[in-house]
Amino acid sequence: MTRQSSDSDSDPKSRAIAGLRDTFDGDVPRASDPILAVAPGRVNLVGGHTDYNDGLCLPLAVDRHVAVAAWPRDDDVIRAHATDFGETTTFDPDDSPDGWAAYVAAVARVLREDVSLLGADLAIASDVPSGAGLSSSAALELAVGQALLGVADETMDSTGLALACWRAEREGVGVECGILDQFASGLCEPDAALFLDCRSREFEHVAFGGDVGILVVDTGVSHELADSGYNDRVRECREAVATLAAASGLDLTSLRDVDIDLLERHADALDDVHYRRARHVVSENERVETARKALAAGDFDTVGEAMYGSHESLRDDYEVSCAELDAAVELASETDGVYGARMTGGGFGGSAVALVDGSALDRVEREIRASVSSRVGATANVFACRPSGGVRLVATD
Ligand code: GLA
Repeated sequence: MTRQSSDSDSDPKSRAIAGLRDTFDGDVPRASDPILAVAPGRVNLVGGHTDYNDGLCLPLAVDRHVAVAAWPRDDDVIRAHATDFGETTTFDPDDSPDGWAAYVAAVARVLREDVSLLGADLAIASDVPSGAGLSSSAALELAVGQALLGVADETMDSTGLALACWRAEREGVGVECGILDQFASGLCEPDAALFLDCRSREFEHVAFGGDVGILVVDTGVSHELADSGYNDRVRECREAVATLAAASGLDLTSLRDVDIDLLERHADALDDVHYRRARHVVSENERVETARKALAAGDFDTVGEAMYGSHESLRDDYEVSCAELDAAVELASETDGVYGARMTGGGFGGSAVALVDGSALDRVEREIRASVSSRVGATANVFACRPSGGVRLVATD
């Protein structure tokens, strides 16, 4: 399946504000300026499919955002307008709308458990391509959550908001995801990656020890397997833990409790598929630790090696890559100035991320763009980005 790329030429903030005024202005007297919240998409440098295994990951926020402009209402109704689709939906707290509005309703429902929320009129605009593995849905959740808190004059720290949005995605939308996407969109800082321990939920901002840029190669494809394959992997990891616990007699609650030695000692208890799934997760946690230290030290070659190692492991052991992602990583690896590349996100399509020498970013982008359609596919798209900050309210003037 191929996707349409979103309109990246105009700023989502101004489109959200214009969408709010065009759709809702004049319905009721507006005493105040709109609230405006933005939340970024993310890429993950290393740490693929570790989050739901209590593991480690190293994402960064990209400078592409979902923007939500909002006015308060004096009832508890939410009216939401998606400027990118030209659709408007109205719902009250008991309703469960479908599609993009499901995310809005789920966030409002979870936040209402902890804070007293008003209804709101919302307009949403985005330049995070959807279906590209860049967490457009987490960015939507975080921006909506921040906007709803803003209109209600409530505050919540970013960790609390990220956890609320994660619960919204799991409970409201039914995806068995880990915390990676919501924490990245909520907590990242400019010019740094986020080292995240998904078990303790502790995190640390790892500033880049030098000039690096990020290149995203969006393959433009999402394969049918994306949803079912993801949930299969969650189940296979759970089964591998249960088998290893029974074989070792140890109290193992997740693959985070397993290291390579333990896995190798009890490899015979696992069938080949479960062994390889576990080997990916266990080795990936090690790659995150390596990349975290190397990134801070400015040793980008070592970060790059961890990224290539991660891609191979996701391709061969975890089996969540696809031909287009492999081609994107191969193309990046042949380009001078690229330290490393891997698939990012759930897989079966979506995007690859490359870590690039900052001084060569423009050239690398041009070179990869020149051959991306012949090498990766006609729907592929390439863009450079800089590590950006997490969810925030911004001034509307
Ligand atoms: C998707 C999920 C995340 C994470 C990644 C893979 O983006 O939403 O929770 O599991 O896949 O690392």
